[in-house]
Amino acid sequence: MGSIVPSISAVAGYVPDYILTNQELEEMIETNDEWITTRTGIKERRILKGERQGTSVMAVKVLKQLLEKSNTDPKDLDAVIIATITPDYFFPTTANLVATEAGAVNAFSFDMAAACSGFIYALETGANYIRSGNYKKIAIIGADKMSSIVNYKDRNTCILFGDGAAGVMLEPNGEGLGIYDTILRSDAAGKELIYLKGGGSVSPPTHETIDEGLHNFYQDGKSVFKFAVTRMADVAAEIMDRNNLNGEDIAYLVPHQANKRIIDATARRMGVGEEKVMLNIQKYGNTTAATIPLCLRDYEDKLNKGDNLVLAAFGGGFTWGSMYLKWAY
Ligand code: UT7
Repeated sequence: MGSIVPSISAVAGYVPDYILTNQELEEMIETNDEWITTRTGIKERRILKGERQGTSVMAVKVLKQLLEKSNTDPKDLDAVIIATITPDYFFPTTANLVATEAGAVNAFSFDMAAACSGFIYALETGANYIRSGNYKKIAIIGADKMSSIVNYKDRNTCILFGDGAAGVMLEPNGEGLGIYDTILRSDAAGKELIYLKGGGSVSPPTHETIDEGLHNFYQDGKSVFKFAVTRMADVAAEIMDRNNLNGEDIAYLVPHQANKRIIDATARRMGVGEEKVMLNIQKYGNTTAATIPLCLRDYEDKLNKGDNLVLAAFGGGFTWGSMYLKWAY
């Protein structure tokens, strides 16, 4: 490792006010609270309502909070990276819109698409800019308006997702606290198991693609589950091994929130008790790129300087990864 350690100096998050409960879903589709709770751990999720409200609406709130919490003049921000699979537009990127809206006039900005692993991918990318020595302040945000691609008639998928955004400020750390190690992986074995079939260059939008529902999120849940449950645990165990960490050394596992059963399996494999697992899936469901930073936001008060955290995610692509960091404040 070089001498510059990139670290998280602030965390912020935003979820919309509207709460879609399991009970409301029972009125919309053939499902029930008991099925959803036992299979996924989800009780409710947030939905961004209103005309012409895109992912950037949530991400702007996060960036403004990050600037304030980290005492950063927007003009001093070097870059904004937004992990999302539900951008406002194909282009300009959501990060372009968000940076400008927050007054970050000297920042470069771009989106990163790695589905549920997007936040870890973006965090490692930002960390490397900091390690280069050329950049001092970078905002990393995970933001998704999953309700814009979910089909609320498909009970296999619509119960899973919610809308939200959260992120962190990255800066060089003088005390050696911060991001130590990262594992990132991808495998297109997931290509036909979890994807948005239409709207891209293979299948541009037509009346037919709309009629066939190709612009909605598709997932073969059972197949994805099998990959997720092994691969997320694999990379979490691998990063512990190569940094000589055991369960007792870990203050918190910060897992992607797709399914409580996947999270439990990962924690078991790591030898980490459930009291050390960040969990908010019951409140927000799966917010894709926002799950991990939303966990950090919710547990910020419980974290202590020097705590060892392991982040782990698995999602569409497939993409997956883990990260080992020491909390810096
Ligand atoms: O974040 C990105 C990565 N994604 C993931 O990690 C998600 C991985 N997959 C999962 O979390 C789980 O597979 C799901 C939660 C999506 C589904 O759970 P499952 O235990 O794999 O259920 P299943 O899909 O095998 O369905 C079991 C039964 C089926 O009925 P039959 O065929 O057994 O009669 C489904 O039709 O449950 C039925 N079902 C439902 N019943 C009530 C499916 N959805 C529902 C529902 N309410 N909403």
